[in-house]
Amino acid sequence: MCGIVGYIGPRQAYPVVIKGLKRLEYRGYDSAGIALLNQQQLNVYKKKGKVADLEDSIVATSDLGGHIAIGHTRWATHGEPSDRNSHPHVSKSGQLAMIHNGIIENYAPIKEELLQKGYEFKSDTDTEVLLNFIEEIRVKNECSLEEALRIALKRIVGAYCILLVDVNDPDTILAARKGSPLVIGIGKDEHFLASDASPIIEYTKEVVYVNDYQIAIVKRDELVLKNLGNEKETPFITKLDMELAAIEKGGYDHFMLKEIHEQPATIADCLRGRLQVEHSHLKLAGVENNLDKLLAAKRFIMVACGTSWHAGLVAEYLIEELCRIPVEVEYASEFRYRNPIIEPGDVIIAISQSGETADTLVALENAKEKGAFIFGVVNSVGSSIARLSHAGAYTHSGPEIGVASTKAFTGQLAVLTMMALKIAQAKGTIDEARFDQLLGELAAVPDKVAAILKDSSNIERIAAKYKDASDFLFLGRGYNFPVALEGALKLKEISYIHAEGYPAAEMKHGPIALVDEHLPVVFVATRDRFYEKIVSNVQEIKARKGKVICIASEGDRVIPGMADDTIFVPDADELIGPMISVVPLQLLSYFVGVLKGYDVDKPRNLAKSVTVE
Ligand code: M6R
Repeated sequence: MCGIVGYIGPRQAYPVVIKGLKRLEYRGYDSAGIALLNQQQLNVYKKKGKVADLEDSIVATSDLGGHIAIGHTRWATHGEPSDRNSHPHVSKSGQLAMIHNGIIENYAPIKEELLQKGYEFKSDTDTEVLLNFIEEIRVKNECSLEEALRIALKRIVGAYCILLVDVNDPDTILAARKGSPLVIGIGKDEHFLASDASPIIEYTKEVVYVNDYQIAIVKRDELVLKNLGNEKETPFITKLDMELAAIEKGGYDHFMLKEIHEQPATIADCLRGRLQVEHSHLKLAGVENNLDKLLAAKRFIMVACGTSWHAGLVAEYLIEELCRIPVEVEYASEFRYRNPIIEPGDVIIAISQSGETADTLVALENAKEKGAFIFGVVNSVGSSIARLSHAGAYTHSGPEIGVASTKAFTGQLAVLTMMALKIAQAKGTIDEARFDQLLGELAAVPDKVAAILKDSSNIERIAAKYKDASDFLFLGRGYNFPVALEGALKLKEISYIHAEGYPAAEMKHGPIALVDEHLPVVFVATRDRFYEKIVSNVQEIKARKGKVICIASEGDRVIPGMADDTIFVPDADELIGPMISVVPLQLLSYFVGVLKGYDVDKPRNLAKSVTVE
């Protein structure tokens, strides 16, 4: 959580950093701040609220000069969102300013130590503690700031990406990371620092992804990376494969809507070069090059959070059905702490849009240490999870900015389906005809999604009809059960309506007690092997006067006769169906959120990338 930006170079730093913060606002938006160094003058501006509130609060007479600045957009961990808890924080001497993304877990004893030495704190944050700790070490040891930083980092426990400036050295930004991402863009006599590449792409495509336990000493014309042992490490320069347009709204009202509408293209991008229907061939290098490990595995363990976890559930169904390999699906946050049995030879499939989710990352680190083989299904190229994985396949969905994940989910499903097919083919658990049929079905997905997106007026009408409901139930069976979970999560996130997803058959074991004439129940009831059974479930809800909204296959004449409202989707094989049936649910939650007047791209209390546990 939290977005950080820094700039050093010939440009005026303020506009570069403010613009960068706006691009990173998806990472947190409860307060924002900026520290500018103008010669040896440190000017700090910070404000509770969004980056726009910060800008509004900066009066015309403020000194915005300077060619070096650090900025922060916050998702609160220690201390409520407020002006005083906003970053940057300034040290006791007034000489140092720092921003931080992450959590210092052992901040309390360090704070105690500093309090006893007479330090006073203006905020409730762990960041201010770390900053003064660094300052205290510098004074006590009479060492350089870089050395003090190194000593401090060896003492702290937790996750951090920090940027630090010193009024006495107005030509340097010090940066360090562990567990929270940091990218440094390399320009001509200038450097850009950020939590991801989106604030950088406009200026340069050459970037360095800083690794855990590295310190970066960044000057206008020099970038030095060192480890915590003070040894220099060679920066590895990567070329960004991303265009500016990909991170702008492109005429849509919201990123979420843009990303929903991008899905025909992003799914096609994901399949491109991999799916070769005419040759009856799938090319997935990450799988092909590691077939020995994948085929030898006794089981696969999916590790993920949120929407990515739902993709893992779909993959469980796919892989067990097609490959006959047992699959477990784990919430990363539970998996990392519950001392799971992991043995060499186990295959962990890590699913993550951002590639930076802290729980997933740590769960993988633990599993890797125990000898598991990690296969990453990741969207964000060069992210921590992508780099930690032994092998993987990118989803190629492009930058996802809306906090609610949409196109990343369908990209994950596309990759996981290809993976299942490829392994099944190699294992001989799928016959040629079925393999070819599913390849054809996969190839047809972009057009089917486009058909849904062509006219969303029916979904908007349904959203208007039910937007004031206080609860929703989402039900599905088989491959549509994870879709129901995803529909409920989307609605909760965007519209703040309480929603639950359940396997439709499980409803009778409790949730049916909730049903009355006020409860909208969304059924994902496309034509599959459970169709008759789900029709019965619809009847059961109708008999209890619930309001039924059905996602049904085109041409279905039974469901519309029973449901209060029906949304048709193109017919598809049930294994492929989730990529299609989830789209109307994404739109439904989007419209409900918008009609209720909420900021769907920045829902309250959330952040796009959960880099704290
Ligand atoms: O970046 P990741 O896929 O690892 O993120 C996992 C979850 O935080 C994420 O899917 C979250 O649940 C989304 N807000 C869902 O829309």
